[in-house]
Amino acid sequence: MTVSSAPGKVYLFGEHAVVYGEPAVPCAIERRATVTVEARDDDHVRVEASDLSLDGFTVEYAGTTDGRPDVDVPASLVEAAMGYVDAAVEQAREAVGRPDAGFDITVESSIPLGAGLGSSAAVTVAGIDAATRELGHELSARELADRAYRAEAAVQDGQASRADTFCSAVGGAVRVEGDDCRAIETPNLPFVVGFDGGAGDTGELVAGVRALKKEYDFAADTVSTIGDLVRTGERLLDPENGSADDRLTELGRLMNFNHGLLESLGVSSRSLDSMVWAAREAGAHGAKLTGAGGGGCIVALDPTPETLTALQFTPGCEEAFRAELATDGVRRLE
Ligand code: MEV
Repeated sequence: MTVSSAPGKVYLFGEHAVVYGEPAVPCAIERRATVTVEARDDDHVRVEASDLSLDGFTVEYAGTTDGRPDVDVPASLVEAAMGYVDAAVEQAREAVGRPDAGFDITVESSIPLGAGLGSSAAVTVAGIDAATRELGHELSARELADRAYRAEAAVQDGQASRADTFCSAVGGAVRVEGDDCRAIETPNLPFVVGFDGGAGDTGELVAGVRALKKEYDFAADTVSTIGDLVRTGERLLDPENGSADDRLTELGRLMNFNHGLLESLGVSSRSLDSMVWAAREAGAHGAKLTGAGGGGCIVALDPTPETLTALQFTPGCEEAFRAELATDGVRRLE
């Protein structure tokens, strides 16, 4: 039996634009998906997911997703979660050259599904890592990130950047621009997350931005403006460029701009906007949605307890928490 965990993430800057080759800076946070894998004697895959923020479910299928039995939870949830586990299994089988390998898999996660905190990337990274190790093969962090990216892209019809999966595999703060992925140093970033209890459909939201970009020049310009903003923001991560307080203040301003640009691309929502405003009014340096949007989470920058407290009393905010940077990516637990 092998057990691996991988962290979720928040975007300091750059989601959506990163899909079109602009840079982005996601940061791994200490909320993890843990995947336990045990090899089977046949080619079946049995998946138990007891804590994916909704009802638990168990499904067993042979080889592919075809012929899965009906289970008593919303089909969309099963499809979403199973799609990533399935794609992870395929990547592990391919990495080891064992197309017929079967597994019993258990998924546990403290990352809400589809809420902008990288739940699918974390499940995919931890799943590939645990399944390949179970077959006696250890992938490097880069190879793992690459396979997780291919798995995520397959589920999202090719519409994925390397940002979520690379960040989850290597941990810490990272910079992703096209195929160029690297770890970067950041000052202590006092992240506060607000969660509205909902979720967005990443594939649909990404497709929506793509369509808008085709239809309107302003949307294409907005995507490249987000890229410029990220390039400005990353200079502020360097301690050479001003006092820690000044840099935090300016990073927050840029997060506010980034939220406005995402809003104009149509990926915010009423609850995300109201959490963003609650954070700003509480004195956060800045706040923005994180991830694909449509519902889910915002991230604010505030070293004081004010934003956390304000979010806890904001209508539409179901949970608020301080998110520590996860310096480790994938962790091999057993
Ligand atoms: C989703 O967490 C982030 C997006 O930029 C999509 C991607 O990068 O694959 C919206």
